[in-house]
Amino acid sequence: MILGLETSCDETAAALISRDGRILASIVSSQADLHARYGGVVPEIASRRHLELVTPVIREALHDAGADLDDVELVGVTTGPGLIGALLVGVAAAKAIAWARRLPLAPVDHLHGHVASLYLEPDPVEPPFLCLLASGGHTLLLDVQEPGRSPGVLGTTIDDAAGEAFDKGARLLGLAYPGGAEIDRLAREGNPEAYDFPVARVPGLDFSFSGVKTALLYAVRELAPAELEQRRTDLAASYQRAIVRALVERTEQAAAEIGATKVAVVGGVAANSELRASLAGALAAPLALCTDNAAMIASAARFVEPVAYPGYLALDAYASTA
Ligand code: KG4
Ligand code: ZN
Repeated sequence: MILGLETSCDETAAALISRDGRILASIVSSQADLHARYGGVVPEIASRRHLELVTPVIREALHDAGADLDDVELVGVTTGPGLIGALLVGVAAAKAIAWARRLPLAPVDHLHGHVASLYLEPDPVEPPFLCLLASGGHTLLLDVQEPGRSPGVLGTTIDDAAGEAFDKGARLLGLAYPGGAEIDRLAREGNPEAYDFPVARVPGLDFSFSGVKTALLYAVRELAPAELEQRRTDLAASYQRAIVRALVERTEQAAAEIGATKVAVVGGVAANSELRASLAGALAAPLALCTDNAAMIASAARFVEPVAYPGYLALDAYASTA
């Protein structure tokens, strides 16, 4: 079986999967509560918490799978992009486990991990497909040809990521970090037509979310605290509608341009109920595999050239690909 580790942001996660993509255990310990009072992830606090959690989370995954480290044949770990200190905790843990048992280690790119959430059983998606990857850090339209090959990038955001737009909007509405799921919940009770927030149209297949965020800021500024309280669900519904529209329009445009017959959506924002409902016919990973987890990292590890013992001891983490 394959052990996957993920510590790129504020989730400490470990998973065990079989070679053919069955999830045997997947443990995600979120630090969101720890960072909520700061309104975002504090990198140094995240690193320290990962250090405390990584061993118990691995132990729990092994326990859930009814396995021990002797059953592990390959260790897959996120090496980037993400918070560098946070990544290093997972990389160090993966190196230690692999080195002690002379196992190979597969360095996994976090974004490939999100795409590989689609390759897990029981309903694996076969490439080729067009993939919308929308998370807290990225918004990408990817042309996925093969699981092991880097996908072509058709479009990306020129400013904020979609999840970032959700989180910043949530903050303007007085909601706790990370606010995407909370906006999703409030939006169900609000009127999406109440406010006409703009959907930015930038050239090509790129996205822009700074305009809609500013529009929300102005709308909120005009309201007294009691009014904001009253209009919060309408604001959430209208704001979510604008973001989802932008994502859906661009994805449909990209599908038409490359003649994609299969469309999939991954990443934390893929958990959004309106997005899932609006992208008619698109395939989406189960909710638990949309937000950060280690099953997707173990899944991606199957398609990476593993580094043999002990070559990976020199392996480094990277904060960004740019
Ligand atoms: O993929 P992910 O867990 O972490 C990154 O790689 O960034 O994505 C987290 C993002 C956050 O911005 C969070 O607010 C957003 O996904 N998110 C949602 C929902 N659930 C999580 N956004 C909208 N609706 C949701 N239901
Ligand atoms: Zn992610």
